[in-house]
Amino acid sequence: MSSKYDHPIPARIMHQINLVCMVVMVATGFFIHKPNFSLLGIDMNLARYTHFIIAFIILLNSVTRIYWSIFGAPRDIKYFLPEKENKGKLFATMSYYYFLRKTKPKTSKYNGWQKATYVIWTFALWFMALTGFAMLWKTNPFWASVVDLFGGLSMIHAIHYLVMWFFVFTVMFHVYLVLFDDFKSFLVMFFGIKPDQEEVY
Ligand code: HEM
Repeated sequence: MSSKYDHPIPARIMHQINLVCMVVMVATGFFIHKPNFSLLGIDMNLARYTHFIIAFIILLNSVTRIYWSIFGAPRDIKYFLPEKENKGKLFATMSYYYFLRKTKPKTSKYNGWQKATYVIWTFALWFMALTGFAMLWKTNPFWASVVDLFGGLSMIHAIHYLVMWFFVFTVMFHVYLVLFDDFKSFLVMFFGIKPDQEEVY
Protein backbone atom coordinates (compact mmCIF):
# COMPACT_ATOMS: atom_id res chain seq x y z
CA MET A 1 0.00 0.00 0.00
CA SER A 2 1.28 3.39 -0.85
CA SER A 3 0.11 6.91 -0.19
CA LYS A 4 -0.66 9.45 -2.86
CA TYR A 5 1.46 11.79 -0.75
CA ASP A 6 4.64 9.74 -0.75
CA HIS A 7 7.34 11.92 -2.25
CA PRO A 8 10.58 10.64 -0.72
CA ILE A 9 13.47 13.11 -0.36
CA PRO A 10 15.44 11.85 -3.42
CA ALA A 11 12.34 12.28 -5.61
CA ARG A 12 11.78 15.77 -4.22
CA ILE A 13 15.41 16.81 -4.77
CA MET A 14 15.36 15.53 -8.37
CA HIS A 15 12.05 17.30 -9.01
CA GLN A 16 13.48 20.60 -7.73
CA ILE A 17 16.63 20.16 -9.87
CA ASN A 18 14.38 19.64 -12.90
CA LEU A 19 12.41 22.74 -12.06
CA VAL A 20 15.45 25.02 -11.72
CA CYS A 21 17.17 23.54 -14.80
CA MET A 22 14.02 23.92 -16.93
CA VAL A 23 13.59 27.58 -15.98
CA VAL A 24 17.23 28.27 -16.90
CA MET A 25 17.04 26.22 -20.13
CA VAL A 26 13.93 28.09 -21.30
CA ALA A 27 15.33 31.52 -20.33
CA THR A 28 18.71 30.94 -22.01
CA GLY A 29 17.06 29.16 -24.97
CA PHE A 30 14.78 32.17 -25.51
CA PHE A 31 17.78 34.44 -25.46
CA ILE A 32 19.74 32.26 -27.93
CA HIS A 33 16.70 32.27 -30.23
CA LYS A 34 16.13 36.03 -30.00
CA PRO A 35 19.35 37.71 -28.85
CA ASN A 36 17.77 41.16 -29.27
CA PHE A 37 15.24 40.22 -26.61
CA SER A 38 17.80 40.88 -23.90
CA LEU A 39 16.27 42.48 -20.84
CA LEU A 40 19.18 41.97 -18.52
CA GLY A 41 22.01 42.80 -20.89
CA ILE A 42 23.15 39.15 -20.80
CA ASP A 43 25.86 38.34 -23.27
CA MET A 44 25.36 35.55 -25.82
CA ASN A 45 28.42 33.53 -24.78
CA LEU A 46 27.19 33.43 -21.20
CA ALA A 47 23.70 32.33 -22.31
CA ARG A 48 25.09 29.55 -24.52
CA TYR A 49 27.61 28.39 -21.95
CA THR A 50 24.91 28.28 -19.24
CA HIS A 51 22.54 26.41 -21.61
CA PHE A 52 25.13 23.66 -22.20
CA ILE A 53 26.21 23.31 -18.55
CA ILE A 54 22.59 23.04 -17.41
CA ALA A 55 21.90 20.56 -20.25
CA PHE A 56 24.45 18.18 -18.72
CA ILE A 57 22.99 18.64 -15.23
CA ILE A 58 19.38 17.98 -16.32
CA LEU A 59 20.42 14.94 -18.37
CA LEU A 60 22.40 13.51 -15.45
CA ASN A 61 19.37 14.16 -13.26
CA SER A 62 17.15 12.33 -15.77
CA VAL A 63 19.45 9.26 -15.81
CA THR A 64 19.57 9.27 -12.00
CA ARG A 65 15.76 9.55 -11.76
CA ILE A 66 15.25 6.62 -14.15
CA TYR A 67 17.84 4.52 -12.30
CA TRP A 68 16.31 5.41 -8.92
CA SER A 69 12.77 4.63 -10.11
CA ILE A 70 13.90 1.10 -11.04
CA PHE A 71 16.44 0.29 -8.32
CA GLY A 72 15.70 2.85 -5.55
CA ALA A 73 13.83 1.77 -2.41
CA PRO A 74 10.26 2.69 -3.49
CA ARG A 75 10.80 1.32 -7.03
CA ASP A 76 8.26 3.88 -8.21
CA ILE A 77 8.61 3.02 -11.91
CA LYS A 78 5.22 1.29 -11.53
CA TYR A 79 3.54 4.69 -11.09
CA PHE A 80 4.74 5.73 -14.56
CA LEU A 81 3.43 2.60 -16.28
CA PRO A 82 -0.21 1.59 -16.96
CA GLU A 83 -1.97 0.29 -13.80
CA LYS A 84 -5.26 -1.54 -13.54
CA GLU A 85 -6.78 1.03 -11.10
CA ASN A 86 -6.68 3.57 -13.93
CA LYS A 87 -8.21 1.37 -16.60
CA GLY A 88 -11.05 3.05 -18.52
CA LYS A 89 -10.82 6.29 -16.48
CA LEU A 90 -9.02 8.56 -18.95
CA PHE A 91 -12.11 10.32 -20.23
CA ALA A 92 -13.77 10.55 -16.83
CA THR A 93 -10.58 12.20 -15.52
CA MET A 94 -10.51 14.60 -18.46
CA SER A 95 -14.20 15.47 -17.90
CA TYR A 96 -13.40 16.30 -14.29
CA TYR A 97 -10.59 18.65 -15.38
CA TYR A 98 -12.97 20.34 -17.85
CA PHE A 99 -15.53 20.87 -15.05
CA LEU A 100 -17.97 18.49 -16.76
CA ARG A 101 -18.04 16.20 -13.74
CA LYS A 102 -17.96 17.03 -10.04
CA THR A 103 -16.04 14.12 -8.60
CA LYS A 104 -12.53 13.06 -9.47
CA PRO A 105 -12.35 9.39 -10.52
CA LYS A 106 -10.35 7.29 -8.07
CA THR A 107 -7.08 6.40 -9.75
CA SER A 108 -3.67 5.18 -8.72
CA LYS A 109 -1.09 7.69 -7.38
CA TYR A 110 -0.96 9.32 -10.83
CA ASN A 111 -3.84 9.28 -13.28
CA GLY A 112 -3.30 8.24 -16.90
CA TRP A 113 -2.79 11.83 -18.13
CA GLN A 114 -0.14 12.47 -15.48
CA LYS A 115 1.69 9.24 -16.27
CA ALA A 116 1.65 10.05 -20.00
CA THR A 117 2.89 13.60 -19.39
CA TYR A 118 5.79 12.52 -17.16
CA VAL A 119 6.89 9.81 -19.60
CA ILE A 120 6.57 12.10 -22.63
CA TRP A 121 8.60 14.79 -20.81
CA THR A 122 11.43 12.30 -20.39
CA PHE A 123 11.42 11.40 -24.09
CA ALA A 124 11.07 15.08 -25.06
CA LEU A 125 14.08 15.98 -22.90
CA TRP A 126 16.25 13.35 -24.62
CA PHE A 127 14.93 14.56 -27.98
CA MET A 128 16.11 18.07 -26.99
CA ALA A 129 19.50 16.55 -26.14
CA LEU A 130 19.66 14.85 -29.55
CA THR A 131 18.76 17.99 -31.50
CA GLY A 132 20.83 20.21 -29.15
CA PHE A 133 24.01 18.15 -29.45
CA ALA A 134 23.51 17.97 -33.22
CA MET A 135 23.47 21.80 -33.34
CA LEU A 136 26.46 22.00 -31.02
CA TRP A 137 28.67 19.44 -32.79
CA LYS A 138 27.38 19.96 -36.33
CA THR A 139 30.87 19.63 -37.85
CA ASN A 140 31.33 16.11 -36.47
CA PRO A 141 30.33 13.56 -39.19
CA PHE A 142 27.93 11.64 -36.94
CA TRP A 143 26.13 14.74 -35.66
CA ALA A 144 26.15 16.25 -39.17
CA SER A 145 24.18 13.19 -40.31
CA VAL A 146 21.67 13.81 -37.49
CA VAL A 147 21.33 17.42 -38.70
CA ASP A 148 20.67 16.12 -42.23
CA LEU A 149 18.12 13.64 -40.89
CA PHE A 150 16.10 16.55 -39.47
CA GLY A 151 16.27 18.49 -42.76
CA GLY A 152 19.22 20.84 -42.13
CA LEU A 153 20.44 23.29 -39.56
CA SER A 154 17.65 25.85 -39.69
CA MET A 155 15.08 23.06 -39.45
CA ILE A 156 16.73 21.55 -36.40
CA HIS A 157 16.86 24.99 -34.73
CA ALA A 158 13.13 25.42 -35.43
CA ILE A 159 12.26 21.94 -34.09
CA HIS A 160 14.32 22.49 -30.91
CA TYR A 161 12.55 25.85 -30.46
CA LEU A 162 9.06 24.37 -31.00
CA VAL A 163 9.65 21.56 -28.49
CA MET A 164 10.58 24.26 -25.98
CA TRP A 165 7.02 25.59 -26.37
CA PHE A 166 5.68 22.10 -25.75
CA PHE A 167 7.54 22.17 -22.41
CA VAL A 168 6.38 25.70 -21.60
CA PHE A 169 2.68 24.91 -22.13
CA THR A 170 2.63 21.50 -20.46
CA VAL A 171 4.60 22.76 -17.46
CA MET A 172 2.15 25.69 -17.11
CA PHE A 173 -0.72 23.19 -17.14
CA HIS A 174 1.08 21.01 -14.57
CA VAL A 175 1.58 24.00 -12.25
CA TYR A 176 -2.05 25.08 -12.67
CA LEU A 177 -3.39 21.60 -11.85
CA VAL A 178 -1.15 21.05 -8.88
CA LEU A 179 -1.93 24.45 -7.34
CA PHE A 180 -5.67 24.49 -7.94
CA ASP A 181 -6.58 20.82 -7.89
CA ASP A 182 -3.99 19.06 -5.74
CA PHE A 183 -2.55 21.65 -3.36
CA LYS A 184 -1.74 18.97 -0.76
CA SER A 185 0.64 17.31 -3.20
CA PHE A 186 2.32 20.66 -3.78
CA LEU A 187 2.90 21.05 -0.02
CA VAL A 188 4.41 17.56 0.19
CA MET A 189 6.61 18.01 -2.88
CA PHE A 190 8.03 21.38 -1.88
CA PHE A 191 7.86 21.48 1.91
CA GLY A 192 7.47 17.84 2.97
CA ILE A 193 4.20 18.75 4.79
CA LYS A 194 2.06 15.62 4.72
CA PRO A 195 -1.72 15.98 5.25
CA ASP A 196 -3.19 14.40 8.45
CA GLN A 197 -5.58 12.25 6.47
CA GLU A 198 -3.55 10.27 3.97
CA GLU A 199 -5.25 8.93 0.88
CA VAL A 200 -4.03 5.35 0.72
CA TYR A 201 -4.04 3.30 -2.47
C1 HEM B 1 18.92 18.77 -22.89
C2 HEM B 1 19.86 19.08 -23.73
C3 HEM B 1 19.94 20.33 -24.56
C4 HEM B 1 21.02 20.66 -25.32
C5 HEM B 1 22.28 19.84 -25.48
C6 HEM B 1 20.72 21.93 -25.96
C7 HEM B 1 21.57 22.58 -26.82
C8 HEM B 1 21.25 23.69 -27.57
C9 HEM B 1 22.05 24.28 -28.61
C10 HEM B 1 23.41 23.78 -29.07
C11 HEM B 1 21.41 25.35 -29.09
C12 HEM B 1 21.88 26.29 -30.24
C13 HEM B 1 22.78 27.33 -29.70
C14 HEM B 1 23.24 28.27 -30.81
O1 HEM B 1 22.81 28.17 -31.94
O2 HEM B 1 24.04 29.12 -30.47
C15 HEM B 1 20.19 25.46 -28.37
C16 HEM B 1 19.26 26.42 -28.59
C17 HEM B 1 18.05 26.49 -27.92
N1 HEM B 1 17.64 25.68 -26.88
FE1 HEM B 1 18.56 24.01 -26.22
N2 HEM B 1 19.49 22.34 -25.57
C18 HEM B 1 18.97 21.41 -24.72
C19 HEM B 1 17.76 21.46 -24.06
C20 HEM B 1 16.88 22.49 -24.16
C21 HEM B 1 15.67 22.63 -23.39
C22 HEM B 1 15.21 21.62 -22.32
C23 HEM B 1 15.06 23.78 -23.79
C24 HEM B 1 13.79 24.38 -23.34
C25 HEM B 1 12.79 23.68 -22.85
C26 HEM B 1 15.89 24.38 -24.81
C27 HEM B 1 15.60 25.53 -25.50
C28 HEM B 1 16.37 26.06 -26.51
C29 HEM B 1 15.95 27.15 -27.38
C30 HEM B 1 14.63 27.89 -27.34
C31 HEM B 1 17.01 27.42 -28.25
C32 HEM B 1 17.04 28.44 -29.38
C33 HEM B 1 16.62 27.70 -30.65
C34 HEM B 1 16.81 28.55 -31.89
O3 HEM B 1 17.90 28.53 -32.45
O4 HEM B 1 15.87 29.21 -32.28
N3 HEM B 1 16.99 23.58 -25.01
N4 HEM B 1 20.11 24.45 -27.44
